Amino acid sequence: MNRPAPLLLHVNGATHLVSADAATPLLYLLRNDLALNGPKFGCGLGECGACTVLLDGMPTRACVTTAKVALGREITTLEGLGTRAALHPVQQAFIEEQAAQCGYCLNGMIMTAKALLDRDPHPSVETIRRELSRNLCRCGTHVEIVRAVQRAAELLAAQAAAQSAVHAGERA
Ligand code: FES
Ligand code: FES
Repeated sequence: MNRPAPLLLHVNGATHLVSADAATPLLYLLRNDLALNGPKFGCGLGECGACTVLLDGMPTRACVTTAKVALGREITTLEGLGTRAALHPVQQAFIEEQAAQCGYCLNGMIMTAKALLDRDPHPSVETIRRELSRNLCRCGTHVEIVRAVQRAAELLAAQAAAQSAVHAGERA
């Protein structure tokens, strides 16, 4: 039997070689081959958002995206945002607002929120609701999730202000 040609995947700033058919769903390669378990298997049909990763910064459902589509593109998973010791502001905000019950949806909520805040640092509540509307949460923590995205926007703004103060100090 012919073995599939190795595939080069760029994930969270590193390059990985995996041996798989190019039609394999990206989610399987991330979880099973690379042990990146941030993205979750929910529906497997592109409906719930639990498997969301960023492909070149765009929220993408990894359960219905083949490895072939991801080749040559930068894949970011939840593990690529922050660490336990240095959380990304979006992760920090979700913890502070206690936006999880079972937490199964949170990977998709956080990755989608990250992409939104990269594009629109000060989204309205309506925009947050619209952008997250295709991410399903069966536990009903929607109010806390919207608050978490608002808090993340505040944390990111404070972080940017602190960085520009440091840079101004360096130039002075
Ligand atoms: S598991 Fe991918 S959208 Fe539900
Ligand atoms: S917190 Fe359980 S699905 Fe959202």
